[in-house]
Amino acid sequence: MADSTDPQSQQPQLSEAQIAVHWREENTLPPPPPFIAQANAAEAEIIERFSEAHFPDCFTEYADLLTWDRRWDQVLDTSNPPFWKWFTGGRLNACFNCVDRHLATSGNKAAFIWVPEPEDQLTQVITYQELYRRVNEFAVLLEDFCGLKAGDRVTFHLPMVPELPVAMLACARLGVIHSEVFGGFSGTACGDRIADSGSRVLVTMDGYYRGGSLVDHKVKADEALLAAEKHGQEVDKVLVFRRRPGQYASASPMVEGRDFFVDELLPQYRGRTVKPVSMPAEAPLFLMYTSGTTGRPKGCQHSTGGYLAYVAGTAKYHLDIHPEDTYWCAADIGWITGHSYIVYGPLALGTTSVLYEGVPTYPDPGRCWRIAERLGVNIFHTAPTTIRMLRKLGPEEPRRYDYRFKLMTTVGEPIEPEVWRWYHDEVGKGEAVIVDTWWMTETGGFLGTTLPALQPMKPGSCGPGALGILPVIYDEDGNTVEAGSGKAGNICIRNPWPGVLQTVWGQPERFVDIYYAKYNRNRDSKDWHDWPFLCGDGAVQAADGYFRILGRIDDVINVAGHRLGTKELESAALTVPEVAEAAAVPAIDEVRGRAVEMYVALQPGLAASEEIRHSVAAAIEREIGKIARPAHIWIVPDMPKTRSGKIMRRVIAGISNFADVGDTSTLANPEIVDDIRHRVQSDKIAAGHVPRVLTPEETQEIQEFGKAE
Ligand code: WT7
Repeated sequence: MADSTDPQSQQPQLSEAQIAVHWREENTLPPPPPFIAQANAAEAEIIERFSEAHFPDCFTEYADLLTWDRRWDQVLDTSNPPFWKWFTGGRLNACFNCVDRHLATSGNKAAFIWVPEPEDQLTQVITYQELYRRVNEFAVLLEDFCGLKAGDRVTFHLPMVPELPVAMLACARLGVIHSEVFGGFSGTACGDRIADSGSRVLVTMDGYYRGGSLVDHKVKADEALLAAEKHGQEVDKVLVFRRRPGQYASASPMVEGRDFFVDELLPQYRGRTVKPVSMPAEAPLFLMYTSGTTGRPKGCQHSTGGYLAYVAGTAKYHLDIHPEDTYWCAADIGWITGHSYIVYGPLALGTTSVLYEGVPTYPDPGRCWRIAERLGVNIFHTAPTTIRMLRKLGPEEPRRYDYRFKLMTTVGEPIEPEVWRWYHDEVGKGEAVIVDTWWMTETGGFLGTTLPALQPMKPGSCGPGALGILPVIYDEDGNTVEAGSGKAGNICIRNPWPGVLQTVWGQPERFVDIYYAKYNRNRDSKDWHDWPFLCGDGAVQAADGYFRILGRIDDVINVAGHRLGTKELESAALTVPEVAEAAAVPAIDEVRGRAVEMYVALQPGLAASEEIRHSVAAAIEREIGKIARPAHIWIVPDMPKTRSGKIMRRVIAGISNFADVGDTSTLANPEIVDDIRHRVQSDKIAAGHVPRVLTPEETQEIQEFGKAE
């Protein structure tokens, strides 16, 4: 994947930050009294404890939720901005905090209840005691058989099975840095990440159930190794878990001396334990890759002490997790939500978590509610895309099941107020409090959300800053956009916080450029006030201080809560030899939030064909994964371009969304616009698409799309 050499392209911009955004201000709802009566954060005084006056010491309250081998000397070390160091001098082990320390009081309590997708397969309960054993045995295997030690990286390409948290915790026990690649990503995408992280070991699984069938997954490991090798990265060992031990579910052959079945190796390590390695607070715990303006994925590096403290604290106060709750986060562990709020946060607090293997609507839209009823789930965590899907397929389904949620979350994309209300009234049965949690891969944990017992809910707005987080909206020149002004701008966080990424793996300059360069006041300053963190979202702040997130400003398309970089999509399309130019744009989608539409222009003399369209789809699936498959691939005679040859993505985005394409007079080839519009829109209408009027925010997003370039 080519990296952009133009430093300008790394500077996301919302150039019309002063554009007024109008939307109907929603009424707030107070939290239900029974919720307040049991909440972890029930006294308003906590807000004062985490106010700016108490920064950074307030975060010791989070660190004190953990067990430290050695207490820190300094809460926040700002000596090398913006490479902040939290709890320096402190030592701890993340696995010990998530597993060992619960054994004495809760050894036989469920840590995870795993629900396989096929409904006739029994749930598996994994107690803290069993988790301890499984983690230890796998850790010894990583150490003895693979030779891994603290600081080494290992890549996982695992689906939603208990083996994934087991493997993560085994690494954490040894101080090995894990890098899990979402199971739905392609082998090639996995291989690029193996190479970037310098992993010599890949942990994968032969197959898993999804949407009713057993998917062959091991085949992707072979592709991944080829891709890694192209970047010069050798992988010595591929550890293959079997979804059904003893029964191989893949058509891909096992490579002698390289590929090993974990269920065949593990018996040698039965009962073996390894002492948790005491790690410095600042040691990296894991990498999580994400997309941005340029093609190459960024390996967000998260720390051991700061990160774990932050996810434990936010899970306790914002998700209101108590050890006796049964918590279900329906996200995939392959994304940051799963790392922070399925594995590390909930386990640090010693709660019981549900893990579900499959599709939320399989085999019918009642599945989630049956799981909740059967297992007594009382906290439910999911994304707007899932909520929209469940609402579409089974609007009255929740009523048929006997479960009670005390708290529900929405995360990953903006939620429409109507969808929010269905979630509240139907899924939450009017009894559950909702927290809309806004954050991102880079931030480790929540940035904007409410304290559920203390701050009212407002449909479509995430809330004020999370505890100890000081958000601000700046315009392009770094002036503060005042709350209640009705103006949008770039949302930033003024202060460092313990969950923030430490760096972009192997690319410290890029880390500074992407997140700090834009609003830094003085490169030499050691004062954190001079280093606001650029989140990469546009936002508006209402007079009451609540933020409403408008979406990414860096050419990222958020499909069903997954961040897809337009550059990655376009580079994938460009691997097809017939394709000369490619441009990916977002199309508003009623279920998935946004869908990708890919426009391609062919090499001179070639005619459009179904075959080429197919090759483009296949290339995207191969390079990124099925999740990135475009909703449409339009082959066009030419792209609308400026005189300097730049593709005007906002014009094609306007066409895809039946929106005004704006001023086209500066184009080198304005005549092409009508031609493309005619082809695309008549095709869509013929296929039954009914265009609707876009909201002002949607119009703004579409008309500004591609500006970051
Ligand atoms: C982007 C981050 C948050 C972890 C999962 C996604 C969007 C996230 C919200 C929300 C509106 C949201 C933002 C953000 N986003 N949460 N509650 N309301 N938008 O992590 O893949 O790094 O994506 O997701 O645009 O920048 P991610």
